[in-house]
Amino acid sequence: MIASVEIAGVSKVTPRRIVTNSDMEKLVDTSDEWITKRTGIRTRRVVDKETTVDMAAEAVKQALKKAGVKRKDVGLIIGSTITSEYVTPSMADYVKKVLGIDAVAMDLSAGCSGFIYALNTAASLMDTLDIGCAVVVASEAISKYTDWTDRRTCVLFGDGAGAVVLRRSDTACLHYPVMEGTADKDDVLYALREKRPTPFSKVSDVKPEYIHMKGADVFTYAVGVVESVLKKLLQMCGDRPYNKIIPHQANEKIIDYVIRKMDMRHEQCFINIGEYANTSSATIPIAMYDAYEKGWLKKGDRIALVGFGAGLSCGGVVIDWTI
Ligand code: UT7
Repeated sequence: MIASVEIAGVSKVTPRRIVTNSDMEKLVDTSDEWITKRTGIRTRRVVDKETTVDMAAEAVKQALKKAGVKRKDVGLIIGSTITSEYVTPSMADYVKKVLGIDAVAMDLSAGCSGFIYALNTAASLMDTLDIGCAVVVASEAISKYTDWTDRRTCVLFGDGAGAVVLRRSDTACLHYPVMEGTADKDDVLYALREKRPTPFSKVSDVKPEYIHMKGADVFTYAVGVVESVLKKLLQMCGDRPYNKIIPHQANEKIIDYVIRKMDMRHEQCFINIGEYANTSSATIPIAMYDAYEKGWLKKGDRIALVGFGAGLSCGGVVIDWTI
């Protein structure tokens, strides 16, 4: 059990530009059929003028509005990103500045598990620091770190942001935080920062760096941990099991596999990867927003969130939905 908090508001911000699988066919040797069949992805959003930090600020603004929470009441902002334009300050600090919020602010980097890690951390810190309202925002412009000549990765990712507002409540609505990790022994999923010279150390091969991924290895890791996290959560729920799942949207086949293994119905799992592809740590809050706006997520639902990604990392949490 973590803090007595509830989700009071949720939002998403996605770039205007839509890139279809047919657009991808013009960039690399791929096909709409291959992408759709192997991943479920049909379109993705890609930033043009939008930035990671601006999408984050807008998402937080909208989530606060939806929650009816005043900026002055926010005591904590945790950003989840691997693609902030700023080395420092944090994306959360930038949000603070744009919206004029005086609060504790920091970023957390945990790949695609970032939102779950940030959510669990925020809820715990609300208890530790006695904070009434907190915001968790995940924002990513993965397209800036995608090798657009590598068909094995460039078709998989998209850009976007999502945010949730956490508010103290009489009863605890966030339960059973799970955060786990295992060493990435074989460079399965990583992206380096560009090398930078100093007056004392020259850099001869300055080149842009991109995301590298051994897709099949991540797939194997993903299906294993998603199933085990969901089973763990189910066990912890006891006689009040969750009735719906919002998983990290990396590949529809991973989700299908897990639905089968968990013996659940397809309708119990929210999937929007077809529209947005994999927006890294932003997939879960974007999906939460869509699920809520479409009426799939209803007051009284008990949902499980589950994520996995670079690190290698995975995590989950159960939420009683109250809005
Ligand atoms: O959120 C972070 C975590 N990321 C993930 O969860 C991703 C997990 N992994 C996956 O989703 C899948 O492994 C991929 C979608 C990345 C790849 O699917 P796959 O079924 O595992 O394909 P593969 O890597 O085994 O490649 C099969 C074939 C290869 O051709 P050959 O060597 O058999 O001739 C690839 O070169 O498919 C080829 N291929 C493509 N063909 C057309 C790889 N990418 C493409 C492409 N278009 N975009």
